[in-house]
Amino acid sequence: MTKNHMTLVQQMKNPIANPAHARIATLDAVVVAHNALKTALEGIEQCISWSAVSKEPRGAVLVGVGGTGKTTICNTILKKFPPHDIVEPHAMIRMVPAFFASVPSPSTIKSLATNLLEQLGDPSPNRGNATSLTDRLCKLIKLCRTKIIILDEFHHLLAESSVGEARTIKICNWLKTLINETGVMVCLVGLPACEALVNHDSQMSRRFTHRFRLKELSIGTSSAPGPLQGFLLALSKEFVARLNLDGFVDFKEHLHVLQMWAATSGNPAFVSLLLKEATSIALSAGRNTMVVSDLDEAFSRGITLSVARTSTNPFTMSRQMLISHADK
Ligand SMILES: Nc1ncnc2c1ncn2[C@@H]1O[C@H](COP(=O)(O)OP(=O)(O)OP(=O)(O)O)[C@@H](O)[C@H]1O
Ligand SMILES: [Mg+2]
Repeated sequence: MTKNHMTLVQQMKNPIANPAHARIATLDAVVVAHNALKTALEGIEQCISWSAVSKEPRGAVLVGVGGTGKTTICNTILKKFPPHDIVEPHAMIRMVPAFFASVPSPSTIKSLATNLLEQLGDPSPNRGNATSLTDRLCKLIKLCRTKIIILDEFHHLLAESSVGEARTIKICNWLKTLINETGVMVCLVGLPACEALVNHDSQMSRRFTHRFRLKELSIGTSSAPGPLQGFLLALSKEFVARLNLDGFVDFKEHLHVLQMWAATSGNPAFVSLLLKEATSIALSAGRNTMVVSDLDEAFSRGITLSVARTSTNPFTMSRQMLISHADK
């Protein structure tokens, strides 16, 4: 057996054998606080603060296409409001100031209530009918002094019925009752289409007045760069520091920002993915510097093609062609 063959066999036995992958995965923890993220985060925190003292809670809606950072924002909020125990005269009570649940697909009141009860630590979250689950949920929300419930994947309500259909109306009505009963603030999170569910009914739209819409990061111009450049510069800094690299593609150069935009449409998830793939190519080749040809190879693997502005490789395109794509 040759040495190369042995390495391949070893890697097949252990699919996480590429040490570069484990090193690069440490970047998963990095959150770049770009302006839209800061606005949403601060806005939701303001809603929590208002809700704690007002007669009626202030609900929020956070929408954006896949990969724009919705769940990242939710996780940042959850970290700020960790669960903790308090000792009362006759019992120890678990406080859950914030919790996160996903809307199941397809959803019913029962499956949604079960998900919420599970996240609140109910020992038998699916025991009982929809009414008894809802009763238990309201009691637990009050007992755990929950300030905010984050309901992710709200667009799942649209999986099997559309806006205005009896099924979705029933679940929205249930949500309104939960808010009325407990006074808890709810933040609905999902794809842009789910905002229509909130707008359809004046009682829903009145309860969810604060809207935050995440978009792909734009390029701007070389004299007035958009948020994509700041995002790329911040991520590059983290790549270099965490992986101890000797060099990285210089995103102060507008051409490289244009190339990344054409390759990813400025979608944060795909930007991060492409940088990780290119860095893995560099490290696996025994180099400690990530260069444009690594981005070129990473793009040619097709991992960002679903969002790319062009099927031609932007890292080998002329500046003029790139600009013409950006103008479209
Ligand atoms: N502000 C950010 N800083 C660093 N990385 C980010 C940021 N926003 C998004 N990402 C990257 O994009 C990935 C996807 O982000 P996230 O899960 O928050 O998107 P999402 O909007 O919830 O997507 P989906 O609708 O598919 O659930 C993250 O794992 C991370 O790699
Ligand atoms: Mg998400």
